[in-house]
Parts: sequence; structure tokens; C-alpha cells
Amino acid sequence: MTGTAQRDEDCQAHRVDADGEGVNGPRAHGAANIAGGEAIPEHQSRVRRSYDAVTDAYTERVHDELRHKRLDRALLTAFAEQLRDQFGPQASVCDAGCGPGHVAAFLADLGVAVTGIDLSPAMVDRARALHPELTFEVGTMTALEAAAGRWKGLIAFYSIIHLTSDAEIRAALREFHRTVVDRGLLLVAVHLGEFGEATVHADEMLGVGVDMDFRFFDAEWLVGEVTAAGFEVEARLVRAPYLDVEVQTTRAYLMARRVGGMET
Ligand SMILES: C[S@@+](CC[C@H](N)C(=O)[O-])C[C@H]1O[C@@H](n2cnc3c(N)ncnc32)[C@H](O)[C@@H]1O
Repeated sequence: MTGTAQRDEDCQAHRVDADGEGVNGPRAHGAANIAGGEAIPEHQSRVRRSYDAVTDAYTERVHDELRHKRLDRALLTAFAEQLRDQFGPQASVCDAGCGPGHVAAFLADLGVAVTGIDLSPAMVDRARALHPELTFEVGTMTALEAAAGRWKGLIAFYSIIHLTSDAEIRAALREFHRTVVDRGLLLVAVHLGEFGEATVHADEMLGVGVDMDFRFFDAEWLVGEVTAAGFEVEARLVRAPYLDVEVQTTRAYLMARRVGGMET
């Protein structure tokens, strides 16, 4: 990776699409379509192509990773137990940016009904092949197709990291708020920046050529955005990376409850 810090203020080019709509609207347009004919911004097309290309290597790297990630398993278990206690067995959960579906499968084994959504058709194909009992769909978290209040819970594990403008992060949080039922739960995982926020460009991932950006977050900033979006943060965890298991970045996890807030 090579990179320079790049604040949202530097991303004006992405703010307004060809139809004059802001990227934070559910109909933000750009260069390409996803399932259902929805258009996505150009940089999301690059993310999609990148994950299509890296699907094999990424799946090889992560499909078994939760075995080594005790804190992640503990948080996912608490998330599923809370939803089951609150909403009953098979409470509906969206895994936004599900990749090859290993986190969705872990949650499903805990008795919740998971639908995985991912920008990358290759990832969705792989998730369906590996977990044929689960549902996976192509889509973007900045314009979810689900109806309002569709999910009892929503997780986004290392997927909002590719929404590199503040406006896009807010668009995704607005969609999470719209599609999660009142008092439902949100669980988000991100990488933290060593010196606050930064966006880093990658042209290679796991030995495969890619062309996409990664965002490294400031935890307090994200807490503020999640809160402003209409969630109450109930738990936060910052942990060091597990050696030999994952990229060596500090990780942050937020568990938050939908409490109303912004208009949807
Ligand atoms: C770093 S991977 C994380 C995958 C999985 N959640 C995990 O924990 O391993 C990021 C995933 O998010 C997906 N993604 C990126 N931007 C997205 C968007 N706007 N909407 C839906 N999925 C997206 C990518 O295609 C990729 O599969």
C-alpha cells in the first residue's frame, strides 16, 4: 500500500454525481450497475472489481480466521444472543459487506437468520458456494434494497473501510438506521489509524493487483457518526492485531442500538 492522508474535504469530486445528486442519497449514481440495475459510484466499481479479482486469495486467507479470533467470536456471540433474547430465534440479520460469508455462517450457527450482502459478485458467488444454506445478494450498503425495519441486527465487519468519504460513511449509516428495526443492534468493525484518520490507496492485496482505497478510522469520530445516525453506542472494543492471523492494524468494534434519531 502507498498512501497519503486524505480527508473528506479533498473528495469533492465524488460528492455530486452525473445526475446532480449527492453521494449520500440512496440513488447516488456513477459508472456501473449492481444487481437490480442500481448504479454505483465509480470508486465503488473499482472496489467491486478489486474484490472480484482477489476473491480466491481473500477467501483462502479468512475462511477459517474466526477460529483464531477469540474476541471477535465473543462479540459476535454476544450480538447473536442479544438478538435472540430480544426478538426470538432466527432474528433477521444483515451482514453488510459479507465477503465469502464466514462471519455470516458463524452467526447463523448461533441461531439467527443471516442475509449477506456484498458489492462483489464473485464474493457473493463464493459465499453461496461455501454456505448454500444461507442467502447472499449483490448490493451496496450505501443504497440497500431492504425495506425499512427489515433487520433486527446488522453487522459491517471491515466493510465501511472502503467508504472513503465522510458523506459515504454517513450514507451507509443512514441506510443501516433505515433498515434496522427500532431497538435493533448494529455491530461495526474497522481498522484504526495510528495518527487519526487516513485513507490509503492499495494497488496490491494478497499478491493480486487491485485498485481501491482503505480508510483508517479515528474511533471517537466514528462513535460520533454512529450516534448522530440514530444509534446509542453500548459497547466499544479496541484490540491489538492477532499475530500471524491478520493484517497488523489496531481494530475497533462498536456495538450500538438503534434509538431513533435522524429522519430516514
Ligand atoms: C475487507 S472485506 C471484509 C469481508 C468480511 N466482512 C470479513 O470480515 O472478512 C470488505 C468487503 O466489503 C465489500 N464491500 C466494499 N464496499 C462495499 C459496499 N459499498 N457495499 C457492500 N459491500 C462492500 C467488499 O466487496 C468486500 O467483500
